Amino acid sequence: MISNKADSHLESLPFLSKNLKRIDRAILQSLPPRNLSKISKAIHYSVLNGGKRIRPQLVLLMAEALKIDVKPKTVDLMAASGELIHCYSLIHDDLPSMDDDDYRRGKLSCHMKFNEATAILAGDAIQPLALEILTTIKDDKLKPEQKLKIINLFAKACGPKGMVEGQSRDLDAEGKKIKLEELDEIHNLKTGKLIQACVESICILKKDLPKEHLRAFKNFAKKFGLAFQIKDDILDVIGDEKVIGKPIKSDLKLKKASYPSIIGLGASQERAEKLCAEALAILTKLPYKTDNLIKLSKFIIFRKK
Ligand code: IPE
Ligand code: IPE
Ligand code: MG
Ligand code: MG
Ligand code: MG
Repeated sequence: MISNKADSHLESLPFLSKNLKRIDRAILQSLPPRNLSKISKAIHYSVLNGGKRIRPQLVLLMAEALKIDVKPKTVDLMAASGELIHCYSLIHDDLPSMDDDDYRRGKLSCHMKFNEATAILAGDAIQPLALEILTTIKDDKLKPEQKLKIINLFAKACGPKGMVEGQSRDLDAEGKKIKLEELDEIHNLKTGKLIQACVESICILKKDLPKEHLRAFKNFAKKFGLAFQIKDDILDVIGDEKVIGKPIKSDLKLKKASYPSIIGLGASQERAEKLCAEALAILTKLPYKTDNLIKLSKFIIFRKK
Protein backbone atom coordinates (compact mmCIF):
# COMPACT_ATOMS: atom_id res chain seq x y z
CA MET A 1 0.00 0.00 0.00
CA ILE A 2 1.37 3.41 -0.96
CA SER A 3 0.81 5.88 1.82
CA ASN A 4 2.30 9.14 0.61
CA LYS A 5 -0.76 11.12 -0.41
CA ALA A 6 1.23 14.37 -0.32
CA ASP A 7 2.02 13.84 -3.98
CA SER A 8 -1.50 14.61 -5.19
CA HIS A 9 -0.66 18.10 -6.48
CA LEU A 10 1.86 18.90 -9.18
CA GLU A 11 2.85 21.93 -7.10
CA SER A 12 4.10 19.60 -4.36
CA LEU A 13 6.74 18.35 -6.79
CA PRO A 14 8.98 21.42 -7.22
CA PHE A 15 11.56 19.54 -9.29
CA LEU A 16 9.00 19.44 -12.08
CA SER A 17 8.82 23.21 -12.51
CA LYS A 18 12.42 23.56 -13.62
CA ASN A 19 11.84 20.83 -16.17
CA LEU A 20 8.62 22.47 -17.27
CA LYS A 21 10.48 25.60 -18.38
CA ARG A 22 12.81 23.48 -20.53
CA ILE A 23 9.89 21.53 -21.96
CA ASP A 24 7.81 24.57 -22.82
CA ARG A 25 10.77 26.35 -24.38
CA ALA A 26 11.54 23.35 -26.59
CA ILE A 27 7.90 23.03 -27.60
CA LEU A 28 7.59 26.72 -28.45
CA GLN A 29 10.79 26.64 -30.50
CA SER A 30 9.44 23.65 -32.41
CA LEU A 31 6.19 25.30 -33.47
CA PRO A 32 5.62 27.38 -36.59
CA PRO A 33 5.20 31.11 -35.78
CA ARG A 34 1.78 31.68 -34.26
CA ASN A 35 0.71 34.26 -36.81
CA LEU A 36 1.80 32.26 -39.82
CA SER A 37 -1.66 30.90 -40.58
CA LYS A 38 -5.00 29.81 -39.20
CA ILE A 39 -3.58 26.34 -38.59
CA SER A 40 -0.57 27.65 -36.71
CA LYS A 41 -2.89 29.70 -34.46
CA ALA A 42 -4.86 26.53 -33.75
CA ILE A 43 -1.63 24.64 -33.06
CA HIS A 44 -0.41 27.25 -30.56
CA TYR A 45 -3.85 27.31 -28.95
CA SER A 46 -3.90 23.55 -28.46
CA VAL A 47 -0.31 22.99 -27.42
CA LEU A 48 0.58 25.96 -25.19
CA ASN A 49 -2.37 25.63 -22.88
CA GLY A 50 -1.36 24.25 -19.53
CA GLY A 51 -1.30 20.49 -19.86
CA LYS A 52 0.40 18.55 -17.08
CA ARG A 53 3.26 17.62 -19.44
CA ILE A 54 3.57 14.16 -17.89
CA ARG A 55 5.07 12.53 -20.98
CA PRO A 56 7.89 15.05 -21.46
CA GLN A 57 8.52 15.02 -17.71
CA LEU A 58 9.01 11.27 -17.98
CA VAL A 59 11.60 11.81 -20.72
CA LEU A 60 13.53 14.32 -18.61
CA LEU A 61 13.30 12.28 -15.41
CA MET A 62 14.47 9.15 -17.23
CA ALA A 63 17.45 11.10 -18.62
CA GLU A 64 18.22 12.27 -15.08
CA ALA A 65 17.87 8.75 -13.67
CA LEU A 66 20.15 7.17 -16.25
CA LYS A 67 22.57 10.15 -16.33
CA ILE A 68 22.36 10.26 -20.09
CA ASP A 69 25.37 11.91 -21.69
CA VAL A 70 23.90 13.89 -24.59
CA LYS A 71 23.22 17.60 -25.07
CA PRO A 72 20.33 18.85 -22.89
CA LYS A 73 18.71 20.17 -26.09
CA THR A 74 18.55 16.60 -27.43
CA VAL A 75 16.57 15.43 -24.42
CA ASP A 76 14.38 18.54 -24.60
CA LEU A 77 13.48 17.84 -28.23
CA MET A 78 12.63 14.24 -27.40
CA ALA A 79 10.43 15.48 -24.57
CA ALA A 80 8.75 18.01 -26.86
CA SER A 81 8.13 15.28 -29.42
CA GLY A 82 6.31 13.09 -26.89
CA GLU A 83 4.15 15.98 -25.74
CA LEU A 84 3.31 17.07 -29.29
CA ILE A 85 2.07 13.60 -30.20
CA HIS A 86 -0.07 13.70 -27.08
CA CYS A 87 -1.46 17.17 -27.92
CA TYR A 88 -2.39 16.06 -31.41
CA SER A 89 -4.18 13.03 -29.98
CA LEU A 90 -6.22 15.22 -27.62
CA ILE A 91 -7.40 17.51 -30.44
CA HIS A 92 -8.68 14.53 -32.42
CA ASP A 93 -10.00 12.74 -29.31
CA ASP A 94 -12.32 15.69 -28.61
CA LEU A 95 -13.81 15.83 -32.12
CA PRO A 96 -17.57 15.27 -32.52
CA SER A 97 -16.90 11.99 -34.32
CA MET A 98 -14.83 10.78 -31.39
CA ASP A 99 -15.53 11.81 -27.76
CA ASP A 100 -17.34 15.01 -28.69
CA ASP A 101 -15.98 17.05 -25.79
CA ASP A 102 -16.27 20.83 -25.81
CA TYR A 103 -13.59 21.64 -23.25
CA ARG A 104 -9.96 20.72 -22.90
CA ARG A 105 -7.42 22.03 -20.39
CA GLY A 106 -9.96 24.54 -19.13
CA LYS A 107 -10.65 26.12 -22.50
CA LEU A 108 -12.86 25.40 -25.51
CA SER A 109 -11.50 22.40 -27.36
CA CYS A 110 -9.84 23.10 -30.69
CA HIS A 111 -12.85 22.33 -32.91
CA MET A 112 -15.08 24.53 -30.73
CA LYS A 113 -12.67 27.46 -30.72
CA PHE A 114 -11.93 27.21 -34.45
CA ASN A 115 -13.92 24.67 -36.48
CA GLU A 116 -13.84 20.97 -37.12
CA ALA A 117 -11.73 21.09 -40.27
CA THR A 118 -9.17 23.33 -38.57
CA ALA A 119 -8.99 20.95 -35.61
CA ILE A 120 -8.47 17.94 -37.86
CA LEU A 121 -5.77 19.74 -39.80
CA ALA A 122 -4.07 21.12 -36.70
CA GLY A 123 -3.85 17.56 -35.36
CA ASP A 124 -2.65 16.33 -38.74
CA ALA A 125 0.07 18.98 -38.67
CA ILE A 126 1.26 18.37 -35.12
CA GLN A 127 1.77 14.63 -35.52
CA PRO A 128 4.44 14.79 -38.27
CA LEU A 129 5.91 17.89 -36.65
CA ALA A 130 6.62 15.77 -33.57
CA LEU A 131 8.66 13.38 -35.70
CA GLU A 132 10.23 16.13 -37.78
CA ILE A 133 11.75 17.80 -34.74
CA LEU A 134 13.51 14.54 -33.87
CA THR A 135 15.17 14.58 -37.28
CA THR A 136 16.54 18.09 -36.54
CA ILE A 137 18.54 16.99 -33.49
CA LYS A 138 22.19 17.93 -33.92
CA ASP A 139 24.33 16.17 -31.36
CA ASP A 140 27.68 14.43 -31.90
CA LYS A 141 26.90 12.25 -28.90
CA LEU A 142 23.87 10.80 -30.63
CA LYS A 143 24.63 8.19 -33.28
CA PRO A 144 22.46 8.33 -36.44
CA GLU A 145 21.17 4.81 -35.72
CA GLN A 146 20.12 5.86 -32.21
CA LYS A 147 18.24 8.83 -33.67
CA LEU A 148 16.54 6.53 -36.16
CA LYS A 149 15.53 4.14 -33.37
CA ILE A 150 14.01 7.00 -31.37
CA ILE A 151 12.02 8.23 -34.37
CA ASN A 152 10.91 4.65 -35.00
CA LEU A 153 9.74 4.29 -31.39
CA PHE A 154 7.64 7.46 -31.39
CA ALA A 155 6.22 6.73 -34.85
CA LYS A 156 5.20 3.21 -33.82
CA ALA A 157 3.66 4.46 -30.58
CA CYS A 158 1.18 6.68 -32.39
CA GLY A 159 0.56 4.44 -35.38
CA PRO A 160 -1.69 1.52 -36.28
CA LYS A 161 -0.13 -0.77 -33.67
CA GLY A 162 -0.33 1.92 -31.01
CA MET A 163 -2.50 4.89 -30.18
CA VAL A 164 -4.61 4.86 -33.34
CA GLU A 165 -5.56 1.23 -32.83
CA GLY A 166 -6.36 1.94 -29.19
CA GLN A 167 -8.56 4.88 -30.10
CA SER A 168 -10.36 2.78 -32.71
CA ARG A 169 -11.03 -0.04 -30.24
CA ASP A 170 -12.11 2.51 -27.62
CA LEU A 171 -14.77 3.82 -30.00
CA ASP A 172 -15.84 0.31 -31.04
CA ALA A 173 -16.31 -0.67 -27.40
CA GLU A 174 -18.85 2.09 -26.71
CA GLY A 175 -22.09 0.61 -25.44
CA LYS A 176 -20.58 -2.88 -25.24
CA LYS A 177 -19.67 -5.07 -22.31
CA ILE A 178 -16.04 -6.02 -22.69
CA LYS A 179 -13.69 -8.04 -20.51
CA LEU A 180 -11.23 -6.26 -18.26
CA GLU A 181 -8.32 -7.79 -20.22
CA GLU A 182 -9.68 -6.19 -23.38
CA LEU A 183 -9.94 -2.83 -21.64
CA ASP A 184 -6.36 -3.18 -20.40
CA GLU A 185 -5.29 -3.69 -23.99
CA ILE A 186 -7.27 -0.64 -25.19
CA HIS A 187 -5.72 1.49 -22.45
CA ASN A 188 -2.29 0.09 -23.21
CA LEU A 189 -2.63 0.96 -26.88
CA LYS A 190 -4.33 4.34 -26.69
CA THR A 191 -2.36 5.76 -23.75
CA GLY A 192 0.33 3.29 -22.69
CA LYS A 193 2.31 3.02 -25.91
CA LEU A 194 3.23 6.69 -26.04
CA ILE A 195 4.20 6.70 -22.37
CA GLN A 196 6.33 3.60 -23.00
CA ALA A 197 8.00 5.30 -25.98
CA CYS A 198 8.91 8.27 -23.78
CA VAL A 199 10.63 5.95 -21.31
CA GLU A 200 12.24 3.64 -23.87
CA SER A 201 13.57 6.50 -26.00
CA ILE A 202 15.91 7.42 -23.17
CA CYS A 203 16.95 3.79 -22.65
CA ILE A 204 18.19 3.84 -26.27
CA LEU A 205 20.67 6.55 -25.28
CA LYS A 206 22.16 4.64 -22.36
CA LYS A 207 25.41 3.02 -23.31
CA ASP A 208 25.59 -0.65 -22.30
CA LEU A 209 22.21 -0.65 -20.55
CA PRO A 210 21.84 -4.27 -19.38
CA LYS A 211 18.99 -6.12 -21.11
CA GLU A 212 17.29 -6.84 -17.81
CA HIS A 213 17.31 -3.13 -16.93
CA LEU A 214 15.72 -2.29 -20.28
CA ARG A 215 13.09 -4.94 -19.59
CA ALA A 216 12.50 -3.47 -16.14
CA PHE A 217 12.03 0.08 -17.48
CA LYS A 218 9.62 -1.20 -20.15
CA ASN A 219 7.67 -3.00 -17.47
CA PHE A 220 7.67 0.09 -15.27
CA ALA A 221 6.34 2.22 -18.16
CA LYS A 222 3.59 -0.28 -18.95
CA LYS A 223 2.34 -0.22 -15.37
CA PHE A 224 2.66 3.58 -15.17
CA GLY A 225 0.67 3.98 -18.41
CA LEU A 226 -2.15 1.70 -17.32
CA ALA A 227 -2.36 3.28 -13.87
CA PHE A 228 -2.44 6.70 -15.55
CA GLN A 229 -5.40 5.83 -17.78
CA ILE A 230 -7.27 4.09 -14.95
CA LYS A 231 -6.95 7.29 -12.93
CA ASP A 232 -8.17 9.27 -15.95
CA ASP A 233 -11.25 7.00 -16.05
CA ILE A 234 -11.80 7.58 -12.33
CA LEU A 235 -11.51 11.36 -12.69
CA ASP A 236 -14.16 11.20 -15.43
CA VAL A 237 -16.55 10.11 -12.68
CA ILE A 238 -15.40 11.94 -9.57
CA GLY A 239 -13.15 14.71 -10.87
CA ASP A 240 -13.89 18.39 -10.42
CA GLU A 241 -14.49 19.86 -13.86
CA LYS A 242 -12.87 23.15 -12.89
CA VAL A 243 -9.74 21.32 -11.79
CA ILE A 244 -9.43 18.76 -14.58
CA GLY A 245 -10.38 21.32 -17.23
CA LYS A 246 -12.50 18.91 -19.26
CA PRO A 247 -16.07 17.66 -18.94
CA ILE A 248 -16.71 14.93 -16.40
CA LYS A 249 -19.12 12.05 -17.08
CA SER A 250 -18.04 12.13 -20.71
CA ASP A 251 -17.33 8.37 -20.61
CA LEU A 252 -20.70 7.70 -19.00
CA LYS A 253 -22.52 9.77 -21.62
CA LEU A 254 -20.95 7.73 -24.42
CA LYS A 255 -21.25 4.42 -22.54
CA LYS A 256 -17.50 4.02 -22.85
CA ALA A 257 -15.82 0.90 -21.61
CA SER A 258 -13.95 2.30 -18.63
CA TYR A 259 -12.47 0.96 -15.43
CA PRO A 260 -15.22 2.32 -13.14
CA SER A 261 -17.94 1.02 -15.49
CA ILE A 262 -16.52 -2.51 -15.39
CA ILE A 263 -15.21 -2.96 -11.84
CA GLY A 264 -16.47 0.12 -9.97
CA LEU A 265 -14.67 3.12 -8.52
CA GLY A 266 -13.15 1.55 -5.42
CA ALA A 267 -11.69 -1.43 -7.23
CA SER A 268 -10.41 0.90 -9.97
CA GLN A 269 -8.47 3.02 -7.47
CA GLU A 270 -7.15 -0.14 -5.84
CA ARG A 271 -5.96 -1.46 -9.18
CA ALA A 272 -4.24 1.85 -9.99
CA GLU A 273 -2.53 1.83 -6.59
CA LYS A 274 -1.44 -1.78 -7.01
CA LEU A 275 0.03 -1.04 -10.44
CA CYS A 276 1.80 1.97 -9.00
CA ALA A 277 3.20 -0.08 -6.12
CA GLU A 278 4.52 -2.61 -8.65
CA ALA A 279 6.01 0.18 -10.74
CA LEU A 280 7.73 1.61 -7.66
CA ALA A 281 9.06 -1.82 -6.69
CA ILE A 282 10.66 -2.08 -10.14
CA LEU A 283 12.26 1.36 -9.86
CA THR A 284 13.61 0.90 -6.36
CA LYS A 285 15.42 -2.29 -7.38
CA LEU A 286 17.29 -0.53 -10.18
CA PRO A 287 20.70 1.07 -9.53
CA TYR A 288 19.73 4.51 -10.87
CA LYS A 289 18.66 7.87 -9.47
CA THR A 290 14.94 7.15 -9.69
CA ASP A 291 13.66 9.17 -6.70
CA ASN A 292 11.94 11.82 -8.83
CA LEU A 293 10.48 9.18 -11.16
CA ILE A 294 9.06 7.53 -8.04
CA LYS A 295 7.46 10.81 -6.93
CA LEU A 296 5.92 11.33 -10.37
CA SER A 297 4.56 7.76 -10.33
CA LYS A 298 2.86 8.37 -6.99
CA PHE A 299 1.41 11.64 -8.25
CA ILE A 300 -0.37 9.97 -11.14
CA ILE A 301 -2.53 7.80 -8.90
CA PHE A 302 -3.38 10.42 -6.28
CA ARG A 303 -3.77 13.31 -8.68
CA LYS A 304 -6.85 15.49 -8.79
CA LYS A 305 -6.27 16.51 -12.42
C1 IPE B 1 -5.40 12.93 -20.93
O1 IPE B 1 -4.03 13.03 -20.73
C2 IPE B 1 -5.66 11.88 -21.95
C3 IPE B 1 -5.12 10.58 -21.62
C4 IPE B 1 -4.38 9.91 -22.45
C5 IPE B 1 -5.44 9.96 -20.36
P1 IPE B 1 -3.42 14.00 -19.62
O2 IPE B 1 -4.13 13.81 -18.33
O3 IPE B 1 -1.94 13.83 -19.61
O4 IPE B 1 -3.80 15.44 -20.18
P2 IPE B 1 -3.03 16.82 -20.08
O5 IPE B 1 -1.90 16.75 -21.03
O6 IPE B 1 -2.57 17.02 -18.68
O7 IPE B 1 -4.04 17.82 -20.50
C1 IPE C 1 -7.63 9.64 -24.60
O1 IPE C 1 -8.35 8.96 -23.67
C2 IPE C 1 -6.55 8.85 -25.18
C3 IPE C 1 -5.91 9.57 -26.27
C4 IPE C 1 -6.10 10.83 -26.53
C5 IPE C 1 -5.02 8.84 -27.12
P1 IPE C 1 -9.61 9.73 -23.09
O2 IPE C 1 -10.61 9.98 -24.15
O3 IPE C 1 -10.05 9.04 -21.87
O4 IPE C 1 -8.93 11.12 -22.68
P2 IPE C 1 -9.74 12.36 -22.08
O5 IPE C 1 -10.44 11.86 -20.86
O6 IPE C 1 -10.67 12.83 -23.14
O7 IPE C 1 -8.66 13.34 -21.75
MG1 MG D 1 -11.18 9.10 -25.92
MG1 MG E 1 -11.70 11.83 -24.49
MG1 MG F 1 -10.80 10.04 -20.18
